[in-house]
Order: sequence, then structure tokens, then C-alpha cells
Amino acid sequence: MIRHEEAVKKATASIHQIKEEVDTNHWRPQYHVAAPAYWINDPNGFSFYNGEYHLFYQHHPYSALWGPMHWGHVKSKDLTTWEHLPVALAPSEEYDKDGCFSGSAIEKDGKLYLMYTGHIWTGENHDTDLEQVQCLAVSDDGVNFKKLANNPVIGAAPDGDIHPNHIRDPKVWKRGDEYYCVIGNRTKDESGQVLLYRSSNLLEWEFVNVAAKGEGNFGFMWECPDLFYLDGCDVLVMSPQGMEPANDLYLNLHQSGYVIGQLDYETGKLDHGSFKLLDYGFDFYAPQTTIDNQGRRVMIAWMAMWESEMPEQEFNWAGAMTLPRQLFIQDGKIICKPMPEVESLRNEKTVVFENVLIDGEKILDGVSGDCLELDVTFNAKESSMFGLKVRVNKEQGEETVVQYDVEEGFLTLDRNKTGKGLDGIRKAPVELKNHELHLRIFIDKSSIEVFINGGEKVMTSRLYPGQASTGIEFFTDGTALIKKLKKWGLR
Ligand code: FRU
Repeated sequence: MIRHEEAVKKATASIHQIKEEVDTNHWRPQYHVAAPAYWINDPNGFSFYNGEYHLFYQHHPYSALWGPMHWGHVKSKDLTTWEHLPVALAPSEEYDKDGCFSGSAIEKDGKLYLMYTGHIWTGENHDTDLEQVQCLAVSDDGVNFKKLANNPVIGAAPDGDIHPNHIRDPKVWKRGDEYYCVIGNRTKDESGQVLLYRSSNLLEWEFVNVAAKGEGNFGFMWECPDLFYLDGCDVLVMSPQGMEPANDLYLNLHQSGYVIGQLDYETGKLDHGSFKLLDYGFDFYAPQTTIDNQGRRVMIAWMAMWESEMPEQEFNWAGAMTLPRQLFIQDGKIICKPMPEVESLRNEKTVVFENVLIDGEKILDGVSGDCLELDVTFNAKESSMFGLKVRVNKEQGEETVVQYDVEEGFLTLDRNKTGKGLDGIRKAPVELKNHELHLRIFIDKSSIEVFINGGEKVMTSRLYPGQASTGIEFFTDGTALIKKLKKWGLR
């Protein structure tokens, strides 16, 4: 086995060699986090340390396909401009020789600790032939990480209805003098569940209980759990694999959502309400949150989906993160808003329109592009549907459609003609308020994020249009009003 330091150097060099070429691809995000090259998936170790946000991510630094997992690393002062740092973790020990899987970060005694899953394959079958244990690595400078000699810090799974092999993605936090972590797991007969552990020193852990467990249509495994206190409640975020579609919901291969309740720290049980999605689009998985020095709960997710086409792989990269989103609880539900810092990305020219009647189709001067923010309030007026198309190119027949159906009460995101590789529609139930719909839309070369009615719902998708597909058009079947529209180009 090569030493960790060497493995990290080799991985960082592999990325360095190709990153300039990768950067020339026209689908590369301009303001979303992506690796300089090759594959990424889940956000990991999202934390605020020494005055900066640190974000790590599942990374394969040798190809645009998933492979032995490393941790890539970026940091930022403002959540909008990110600096790339060397690869933080690489497989190097017996207990993590086939991958440093997902995990989280926490500061202790001025040092940054990463808690991650050491993964090994024990045979050919990727569902049964694997072993997973929980490990720690530590850094004094927030850049170079050393794995602890006492790894793994959580080894064999406890007895009970706990699958001994699928046990991964520790999310750690501190409460009073004690540390806690939740770990993703499944029961022996394949229902998703989350395990709660406790420690006084981060090194020795005791199993407390199964904090929550899925019943009914709730998937066969819960990945990437996150448990945090927000606005007076305990929130459990998790990513259930394998929920069945239910009407217009759960159409993605896997889901990410949350339940709200109260965690009894003595018994380790979370008493909670029903499951709700965190995003109603196509590409949102394995979200992770952190709390910053202003007490804000910030969430970021992988903006892609397992087993979906990734046309950018041809250009030696795959995957990006969503915009960081601030979480709030309102009327018993989570709302997600873009961080205010994102406004610093706006260029100086604001395009503004007020009270524009749409009667059929409408194009507005200066409202187009492939890297922009739109803030628009519609009034439904005399229409049964209205909306906008973005990334339009009439000659190529490309468009991505955001449409509101007044009677159905759904906002639809349609990517059937969006460009390369992808198709399908997703629907989010949305109510008009005084006949009005407010959308804040972020477009970044190969993605769209639609924040609906102040973050009540969000829809996220990747898209792969041609470079010339930059048109924006408004439409309705009757008459509708653009009450107010603002558009900014983003750097
Ligand atoms: C979620 C996940 C995690 C795992 C990681 C491996 O997307 O499957 O459960 O730790 O990705 O890359």
C-alpha cells in the first residue's frame, strides 16, 4: 500500500495535468462548485473553520467515472468564490483501501477532523460483498490531513436489526460536552434507517439507538443522514434509495428529503412527522448542511443523480454541487433560499421590466443568456397556464420549459428538448398567492435552479444545450402579466 501522503500527491497531480483542457468545455459551471477535472458526487465535510467555509466532495481523480473514492477540497470566504485545494483524502490503508466514502467535518481543539467511511470490497457483488467502518483524519492547517492511528473508530456494527455491511456516511456534531453522529444504514430485511452514536472525545463511540427507521414506501437504504437543530426543531435529512414513484413524486432513482421532530438524546429516538422532499427537480442528492459563524444553516447537494446520463463525461469531468441554500422552518416545513452572498455574482447591469402583458409569446430585450439570474413575478390574469422557456434555440429545437398550470396547481420543469442526453418532466405542487407566482431562477451553463415563492419549493436540473441556445421566451394560453422582472448576468 502506498502511504497516504503519496496517494494524495498523486491524485492532486492527476487533476492538475488535465484541468486547463477541462476548463474549455462550454458546459463547465461558472459559479457552482465542480472538481477541476474528473468525477465528483456527494458533498462531504461541509464546515466553517478558521473563518472560512470548507467543502469536500466524493471524487475520483483518475477518470470521469465513479471509482475508488477520494475527497476533493475547496474553500471559500463567501460561499460564491471557491479556491481549489489539494485532494484531502485518498484510499491508503487496509480499512479504506477501496474508498474514502462520504462523511463530515468538525473542529476540535483548533483542528479540523474529518469523519468518513472506510470502504472495502470483499468480492464481486457490489450489494453484498463489502465492508464499511468509520474513520477519522485530522488537520492543523485545514489543508493536509493525517489519518488517525486508532482507525477505525467505529468498527463492527452493533447487534440487532442492523445490516452489518451497509453502514456509512457519518455526520458528526457537538452538543454540550458530547459528540454525536448519525450513520446511514438499512435493516436486515432492507428498510432504511439511521443509527445514533455518542462520544466524549471523538475517538471512542458508543451506539445509542436506531434514531429513525423507514416504514412503508421509504426505500431500502438511507444514505447520507444529517441531523441538526433548526428554529426549535430537530431535523433529520436523509437520502433514501429505492422509494417507489407515487403519482408525480419520487420519480428520480433516489430521493433526498427530511422529517421534522424532536430527538430524545437519552433514548436516542427521533419522534418525527412525515417525509418531505428538499427539491422537486431531477438532480439533487446527498445534501449536507453546516452552521456558520452567523448561525445560518447552509445546505449544499450533489447536482446530479446516480445512473443518469452525464454528457460532460466526454470532456473529462462529471458532476457539480448545487448553489448553497439557507434553510428555515416555516409552518412546519423547510424552506430553502439562495444565500444572500450570491448577489455579489451579479454584474453591474440590471435589466428591469414592469407590468408587461403576455398574450401568446413574448421576448424581452436584454433578457437572454446562459449564466444569469432572473427574478420574476407573474400574475395569472386570464390564463390556465403560463411560464417561460430558457436556453431556447429555435433552429436546433432546444428549450427548457418552466410552466405553471393554474387548475392543476403544479409548476412543471420539462427537459424533453433541453439538449443532449436528458429527458423527462418533474412537477412541484405550488399555490398561487393572490394570483401571483414568484420565481428566482439561476442558470449556469449546464444547470437550472428554480426557487419558487420565496423558497417554498425548489426544482433543480442539469441541462446540456448547444452553446448558441441562449434565448428566453415568456408564454401563456390566454393573457398573463409579468408584474416585475429583473435579470442579472452572473460572472
Ligand atoms: C451517496 C453515496 C454514499 C457513499 C458515497 C460513495 O451518493 O452512495 O452513501 O458514501 O456515495 O461515493
